[in-house]
Amino acid sequence: MALADLKGKRIVLGVTGGIAAYKAVEVCRQLCDLGAHVSPVMTEGAKKFIGETTLSALASEPVQTKLWNAENPIPHTKLGQQADVIVVAPATARLIGTYAAGISNDLLTATLLATRAPVIICPAMHTEMWEHPAVQENIATLRRRGVIVVEPEAGRLAGGDLGQGRLAAPTTIVASVMETLTPADLAGVKVVVTAGGTREPIDSVRVISNRSSGKQGHAVAAAAIQRGASVSLITTADLPAPVGVEVVRVETTAQMQDALNARASAADVVIMAAAVADFRPVQSAETKLKKSAGIPKVELEPTPDLLAELGRNKPTGLTLVGFAAETENLEVNAADKLARKNLDLIVANDVSAPNVGFTYDTNSVLILGRNGERKAVELAPKASVAHAILDSVVAHRAAR
Ligand code: CTP
Repeated sequence: MALADLKGKRIVLGVTGGIAAYKAVEVCRQLCDLGAHVSPVMTEGAKKFIGETTLSALASEPVQTKLWNAENPIPHTKLGQQADVIVVAPATARLIGTYAAGISNDLLTATLLATRAPVIICPAMHTEMWEHPAVQENIATLRRRGVIVVEPEAGRLAGGDLGQGRLAAPTTIVASVMETLTPADLAGVKVVVTAGGTREPIDSVRVISNRSSGKQGHAVAAAAIQRGASVSLITTADLPAPVGVEVVRVETTAQMQDALNARASAADVVIMAAAVADFRPVQSAETKLKKSAGIPKVELEPTPDLLAELGRNKPTGLTLVGFAAETENLEVNAADKLARKNLDLIVANDVSAPNVGFTYDTNSVLILGRNGERKAVELAPKASVAHAILDSVVAHRAAR
């Protein structure tokens, strides 16, 4: 199950020199409220924005700022070794660059290099700096090494400018800490996830597709890997794949079917988050159809229902999870699909509701199970919804 609190967890909270440093105070307070032991580390730059006393008063121990400290000669190794997680909020371009380059030039960078704990960085800076290729390459390097990046949000920045670069909300940062510390309750479990809308060619340049972004499927894959699963992600979406996931990039329903069939028999859990096309052109032209040839008649045929086929020939022990994108009668339609496709769980969302489903970063779902399980998940980031789905998968498997 996902964590309900952070009791007994040791968190190093790194604060660097950006205007958003004041928000680190709120992050510290929320982490302490959840029961965590928070050890704050401030850089010299951070001290220009907030007082040490503020953080020391709220955290579980006084702020540390120096690598060279006579009473405590090796503060970075102690901090690094004892941490369950290190969070840097805000993380400046300097911190990100130094960390990516493996340079230790203050207590915080030394601690980051002296740890094997998961690291979460929460960048905050002006849009021009955030978008600079040097910063983006450093971020990509850190991501490749398994560092979790809580992306900055778009909004008002220091000086009144608008753009991406504002530190993520303290609740988002705390949610990321919770997720990172979630126990490995899917260790040894093989999970296959499909994501994105399939694209069915009309000719060599045109396709029939749908509005699915693939974000929810990618979030499920990321959450499953965090929880210790071995994960294959069959996706049409041009999104970064979580580190450690086997990624199979596909376009069409037929390609998705081949990739799925090759993996389904060895899987313990299949989660069909993809929006698979229901119809495809009977024929697709190998070259681009010319406008001068007149309006083409595109004859459609049904695609195979990948989920229903898996349900019909369900390997013993497989937990099969489908999705249902609905615009009306959510629960009735979802329950019908659950039964009709012989599923174990179905994740239904009302895609006509505000901020729900396709393209959004948030979702709100109703999870139904064949054994009468029913869980409503309120509007939340897709990462949190992904964990809620996996909570249901874990509970369903445990009840068998
Ligand atoms: N699905 C699939 N293959 C298809 C169509 C859908 O595997 N050809 C899967 C989707 O991945 C999703 C589930 O079926 O997990 C539900 O898809 P949806 O389109 O909502 O269901 P349909 O069976 O198409 O029902 P309806 O058209 O009545 O909404």
